[in-house]
Amino acid sequence: MLFGGKGSIGLDIGSSYFKVVELKNIRTGFELELFDMLPLPPDLIVDGSIIDSFRLVDSLKELIRKARIKTKNAVIAISGHSSVIIKRISLPEMSEEELSESIRFEAEQYIPFDIEDVNIDFQILGLEEEPGQMDVILVAVKKDIINEYVSVVKEAGLNPIIVDVDAFALENMYELNYEIESGKNVALVNIGASTINMSILKGGVSVFTKDSFLGSNLHTEALQREFNLTYENAERLKRGEPVEGVSPEDAYSIVTAASEDILGEISRSFDYFKSTTLNEDINEVTLSGGCALVKDFPRLLASRVGVEVKVAEPFKNIHIPKKFDISYVEEMAPMAAVAVGLALRRPGDR
Ligand SMILES: Nc1ncnc2c1ncn2[C@@H]1O[C@H](COP(=O)(O)OP(=O)(O)OP(=O)(O)O)[C@@H](O)[C@H]1O
Ligand SMILES: [Mg+2]
Repeated sequence: MLFGGKGSIGLDIGSSYFKVVELKNIRTGFELELFDMLPLPPDLIVDGSIIDSFRLVDSLKELIRKARIKTKNAVIAISGHSSVIIKRISLPEMSEEELSESIRFEAEQYIPFDIEDVNIDFQILGLEEEPGQMDVILVAVKKDIINEYVSVVKEAGLNPIIVDVDAFALENMYELNYEIESGKNVALVNIGASTINMSILKGGVSVFTKDSFLGSNLHTEALQREFNLTYENAERLKRGEPVEGVSPEDAYSIVTAASEDILGEISRSFDYFKSTTLNEDINEVTLSGGCALVKDFPRLLASRVGVEVKVAEPFKNIHIPKKFDISYVEEMAPMAAVAVGLALRRPGDR
């Protein structure tokens, strides 16, 4: 069951695009089996909640046809501060079995929701310096949000086998493609249309995560207002196509001004991280999500936070067979970061 045969797809259900990735195990690692995307009409998903499940199911069926998805097993993910809580906590030393028994009780004081309304998972990170204590990552995801996403996936004819969290998918994508350096703090920043997922790794271990509901929709909305455009035309303009007599050059200053809130949010989160870690530096940013494709955004972010920003290469260590249009895959790669992380998951993983 673990490898080959009954594989699974990584399906990233974003608010503006579906992204799907399937990987095959080969002798040297992984090979890309399938990669595709489908744009979604606006407002089907708002602040992480599915508003119009009917049309979302239709779009997912369209993706299944277009991408010729044959594999039914799907790994999906949830994100957003109002549905997912990830906390690093300190607990008395105990075995994994013991913690499984008591986790709901232990978690209660850390979760701002009713404990009955969430699914809880955990990972023991290891012993702390303080004797008899251990570090644990606690994850709580709201059941009603999980159910919303799971039913859409099922109704489209797929079989959801794992519900992950965007931040963890990004970490898995990073682990596959990058060397972990022990002394280094790396911020993984994924900016989509309406969400920022942030995760800071210290020597490869997650020490800080934060999601916020801000994203590249701010660019689209600013262009719509300024030039009186439809959503679709503003999206095209943002991607660098001239529309209705407006050139990408005209759009540039509007897009740059609209980046301000996103830059401020990331910068504030970095400051918060520093203030809670005795001023530790962030040494590098790996930027993914569609916002990484917005003209000049990576440079603006680098100059705002004063840290080198690298645009993520989720397929760096994945062999891409000739049947793919390599330049398209590479161009869109930053948007595939979460889907690659999900495609790496195997049934039975924690
Ligand atoms: N080539 C491009 N140039 C500029 N912007 C792009 C490009 N392609 C996509 N985008 C923008 O990136 C966003 C989509 O990115 P992504 O797929 O990461 O978001 P999402 O996962 O759908 O959204 P979220 O996770 O926030 O719900 C859209 O706002 C889109 O306009
Ligand atoms: Mg996304």
